[in-house]
Amino acid sequence: MSHRKTKILSLFSLLIVVAMVLGACAPAAATPAAPAAGKLAVGIVLPTKDEPRWIQDETRFKDALKAAGYDVEILFSQGSSAIEKQNVESLLTKGIKVLIICPQDGTAAAAAADEANKAGAKVISYDRLIRETASVDYYVTFDSVAVGAQQAQYLVDHAKGQGNPLYLYAGAASDNNAFVFFQGAWGVLQPKIADGTFVIKNSSEAVGLQAKATLTRDEEAKIIGQVTTNWDFNTAKNLAEANLTAAKAADKGNVFILAPNDGTARAIADAFGADKDVKSYLVTGQDAEKASVQYIIDGKQSMTVFKDVRTLVKDAIAAAVALLKDTAPAAKGSYNNGKADVPAIQSAVVTVDKANVKAGLIDSGYYKATDFTGLP
Ligand code: GAL
Repeated sequence: MSHRKTKILSLFSLLIVVAMVLGACAPAAATPAAPAAGKLAVGIVLPTKDEPRWIQDETRFKDALKAAGYDVEILFSQGSSAIEKQNVESLLTKGIKVLIICPQDGTAAAAAADEANKAGAKVISYDRLIRETASVDYYVTFDSVAVGAQQAQYLVDHAKGQGNPLYLYAGAASDNNAFVFFQGAWGVLQPKIADGTFVIKNSSEAVGLQAKATLTRDEEAKIIGQVTTNWDFNTAKNLAEANLTAAKAADKGNVFILAPNDGTARAIADAFGADKDVKSYLVTGQDAEKASVQYIIDGKQSMTVFKDVRTLVKDAIAAAVALLKDTAPAAKGSYNNGKADVPAIQSAVVTVDKANVKAGLIDSGYYKATDFTGLP
């Protein structure tokens, strides 16, 4: 048998060995093994392309995963839990071993997580918590209580005297984060409502509960039900305009506005800015979207809570790699999602206003100075 033939044979057997070794160390069906060549290792599902926040995450994921040398597919659910489930199913057919998913609706996404789990894939809940299922293996997020608390603290720090008009707005009730943000804000605002610094102008439910320092989830749901923006620009604008129409001139003047994120903050700021009885307004935000950073520079939005998405992406990839290697990602605590305590890691957040916009967002390399005009 010619020398060349033996060589090919030994190479082939080597390959088999490798496959076998891989096979051998691949644990039971439930735990992920390294994907076969051409198979997708990690699949990512994000809520919608219609919000700058999630385009931000897509970009940062692509940058980071390209650097890590992993194939990845990022799909968007366009605000629909049905499309979200289809996205998950299509990724599972491509053999993913880890699903990174930011749910459109935290409870509706449980079905997709269960399906992924049944198919042997690990599930990482990204930014928002998937609720009411034990199929979530890990959760990467920001300190969402601190987001709400920092928004509220900004209003408190700028309020003088008594009777300051306060307008409350919240995120989508389908998003677990909306409750956590509101919990953080209420914890800081409630004592200042109770002592008369602020007077709530646009929520009878909140007025009814203003003596309570800590609210139950049902009580939060009642208030959120009245002041939700559904994370939608137009919903926020229409709600703010309706509140302003219903309010008397005496309920306006120098007003304080808790807006849940940047997209809704700009819509609400435009509505209050256009009202002749509003002399000045302070409005909060979240996400440091470019358009809102420009609003802050131009004095049309007061602050935002910067959540460095590069950190969230890094934590998600580190967790995916650990799970792909059948090891438990590093967890700093857990979140109870109604069915299980999900191991989690959460990152800190930073308040950004006109005074530290350069240090917080330009010097940190998050944005370029040329992305804005009039930078202080
Ligand atoms: C939240 C997220 C925020 C915000 C919002 C709207 O869950 O944490 O950063 O952007 O969704 O999509």
